[in-house]
Amino acid sequence: MTDNAFIFNHPLIRHKLTHLRDKSTSSKEFRALVTEISALMCYEVTRDLPLEETEIETPVAAAKGSIIAGRGFALVPILRAGLGMLNGVLSIIPSAKTGLIGLQRSEETFEPESYYCKLPPDISERDVLVLDPMLATGGSAVCAVETIKRHRPKSIKFMCIIAAPEGIKCLSDAHGDVKIYCAALDDHLNEKAYIVPGLGDAGDRIFGTD
Ligand code: PRP
Ligand code: URA
Repeated sequence: MTDNAFIFNHPLIRHKLTHLRDKSTSSKEFRALVTEISALMCYEVTRDLPLEETEIETPVAAAKGSIIAGRGFALVPILRAGLGMLNGVLSIIPSAKTGLIGLQRSEETFEPESYYCKLPPDISERDVLVLDPMLATGGSAVCAVETIKRHRPKSIKFMCIIAAPEGIKCLSDAHGDVKIYCAALDDHLNEKAYIVPGLGDAGDRIFGTD
């Protein structure tokens, strides 16, 4: 495994992941779990945010405090399934701007095909957080990062719920500067490039299209 992947091992996340993976979990529950896990992951993803000193008045006295410096984040969910993570992250980072990248993985070649891209105009002044629940072969993540890098953001992090070792290697080899955050690292990919044991098709489970 590479140094730039952070795998969560928190009891709350492990508990929620177990329900998320369960094939009897409904779309409604699945969406709620993706939202909750994404919000919990923000605690670690934002650990290195720069702060600046400020002064405020409490009802009792003057006090020094710290606020987050700079423009902050641009969130870029990869359509469709990345949308499921957006509200959870926005609940913790409400001032973030959002961009969208639409990618569809071919069922034959497993290569991503791009169908949409709209990014915030000031993305070059922001740290970007790419959201996608599944990092399987890594093709979609690499394609999204390449698209975003053309706009020269300050930094890029990639946040997923389940990763395969193949996906982490692919993204790290292509973009070693992109830190990867995964709620879980699974075993391998099957012959259809699905993550095993995984959770199935994340987009279908979020949008109820399975
Ligand atoms: C899924 C998933 C990732 C991609 C991962 O999306 O949400 O974007 O596959 O696979 P990879 O690492 O092998 O590229 P999919 O293309 O199925 O589209 P969807 O979100 O619209 O269902
Ligand atoms: N996309 C998914 O939604 N699930 C996988 O296991 C692999 C790619």
